[in-house]
Amino acid sequence: MQSRRIFLSQLAAAAVAATFKANAQALLSSPLREAASSRDILFGCATTNFELRQSDFAQALAREASIVVPEYELKRNLVEPARGRFDFSAADGIATFAGNHRMKFRGHPLVWHKANPPWLDDALAGRRAENLLIDYVRKSTAHFAGRCHSWDVVNEAIEPGQPQNLRQTPWLKMFGPSYIDTAFHVAREADPDALLVYNDWGCEAAGENHDRFRAATLRFLEGALRRGVPIQAYGMQGHLQAFGHDIDQTRLRAFLDAIKSLGLKLLVTELDVDDHGGPEDVTLRDRKVADMTRGFLDVVLDCNTTMAVLTWGLSDRYIQPPYEPVDHGWKARMLPLDDKMNRKPMWQAMSATFAASRRR
Ligand code: G3I
Repeated sequence: MQSRRIFLSQLAAAAVAATFKANAQALLSSPLREAASSRDILFGCATTNFELRQSDFAQALAREASIVVPEYELKRNLVEPARGRFDFSAADGIATFAGNHRMKFRGHPLVWHKANPPWLDDALAGRRAENLLIDYVRKSTAHFAGRCHSWDVVNEAIEPGQPQNLRQTPWLKMFGPSYIDTAFHVAREADPDALLVYNDWGCEAAGENHDRFRAATLRFLEGALRRGVPIQAYGMQGHLQAFGHDIDQTRLRAFLDAIKSLGLKLLVTELDVDDHGGPEDVTLRDRKVADMTRGFLDVVLDCNTTMAVLTWGLSDRYIQPPYEPVDHGWKARMLPLDDKMNRKPMWQAMSATFAASRRR
């Protein structure tokens, strides 16, 4: 009787193991949006209206992504080309595509020191005028309220080594550090539901500069939260260099744990792996890009406050200058799909990491 019970329990265990293996295998060939959602994470990417007009790309995007962000159509030089004249039509096109394909939509950015229209650069050099900040933030967040997962409210405000480790932008020069507080409070009031994100780079890799950036970022976030600024998440851009600084998983994990201890969620907002400086052999470059992707995401996905991973584009086909290294004459290979929408080793690495991630 005993041996029969042992046999049956072994049979059951084998059946469970086989099912788990089959599920894991199935997950490895599933679109990234499905593999990610099995860990309660959103996967998506930045895109453009031009890309969405290419049918093979649009099909790949609809298959793989569950969240999208305009790569540049929601930047102020396009949205408010003349003072007080707003045009959200380009970004609305992407938001409509998202809605039609069961995707979430995120906004990027509200306040940045780049991609501003010339009239604003001039105005920010003139007399202090709060409406230059408040009106734009309020109008943009209100326009997408109810259909926006999250906003990069302030983008790239930190520069270690500057006074208070703040980048000397026209916003800082006109308003002082309070522009950050104002932007988040106005966005919160205009859209009570969107997740409000502080977005930046510099904390992903190994090296002294990244150590300084991580320390400055934590101090910046601690101070803002202490002042009651409604920041809900840190957006870690994730622009990696396959043949540059490696990922120091120990330091990255400690940084993400510190972000979590501040009560903040985490999004990877602009992941790509620049293969500049690598060998001409595509197989070797793709392998290094995939290995770095895996090393980075293993740490990110171990963190149970990670909500989303977005790559900065989905296919190598649309990578623009300055990424295309004219010196070698070969195109960069930084994203999950190649220029024919085929899944690359980077895609395999992301799929395997989503499937394997344990949530701490
Ligand atoms: O579409 C116009 C085209 O009609 C015109 O002929 C051409 C020449 O001026 O410009 C084209 O627009 C360009 C747009 O990219 C689309 O290619 C803009 O000039 C150019 O400034 C814009 O660059 C974007 C850049 O942010 C500035 O907005 C890049 O696509 C985008 O990848 C980059 O993304 C940034 C994130 O927002 C923040 N983090 C870093 C990241 C990479 O730099």
